Amino acid sequence: MKHNISFDLEFRKNPYPGKLIVIEGMDGAGKTTQAKELVKMLNKSGYNASYTKEPTDQIVGQFIREKILSGNLKIDPLALQYLFNADRVMHMTKIESLLEKGMIIVMDRYFWSSVAYALADLGGVKEWYLTAFSVLSFYHQFIVPDISIYLDVDIEIALRRIEKSGKHGEIYDNDKKLPLIAKNYRQLLKEFPEMFEVVDANGKAVEITPVLFDLVKKLADKK
Ligand code: TMP
Repeated sequence: MKHNISFDLEFRKNPYPGKLIVIEGMDGAGKTTQAKELVKMLNKSGYNASYTKEPTDQIVGQFIREKILSGNLKIDPLALQYLFNADRVMHMTKIESLLEKGMIIVMDRYFWSSVAYALADLGGVKEWYLTAFSVLSFYHQFIVPDISIYLDVDIEIALRRIEKSGKHGEIYDNDKKLPLIAKNYRQLLKEFPEMFEVVDANGKAVEITPVLFDLVKKLADKK
């Protein structure tokens, strides 16, 4: 049966005094290092910032990491992303209370990851729209980031970093999946250009953090 469905996706804007900063990118882009360094730099400069990540260390996040990302338990890729969403629902309750208090939250991955990673498993042009919108349709209930920073890294460099970190072995951090994930992020950047700031993340960590700091400072100081 054929149906013609068309709808506008309305993201929920941050209604709080705090700022939601999201760092995105594929495995090996340096997100965790950068997000943590950014928080340190912000706090040193007098802002009230805090680091958080997805998947979280709460019950669903733990299940995802220990059972599924490790490769021990295989589940349908879309079902996996819905689990990430369940983890996210619980996470956001906590985050909203911090934003309400005026904090700057630097988040290591958010809903953009669900789209980019689901599609690395599902692929296809038709699937792009169906998956993107089915995953993103959750987000009328979630706050859209004040800024999403995409750390842009070459695949070879990302793979080298993963190897060095010793984290190698999760289901997505390999040379088969990374090119697909990179392609999906590119598509997201194209579809939602107003949401992203793209930062070249191929260089040294110490040179990248100040670039992120300037982006966030500009946003935080805006009246
Ligand atoms: P991490 O390596 O950044 O800790 O993230 C764990 C893995 O989970 C990583 O390979 C990306 C993947 N992931 C998704 O597939 N969907 C999501 O929504 C999130 C947050 C992560």
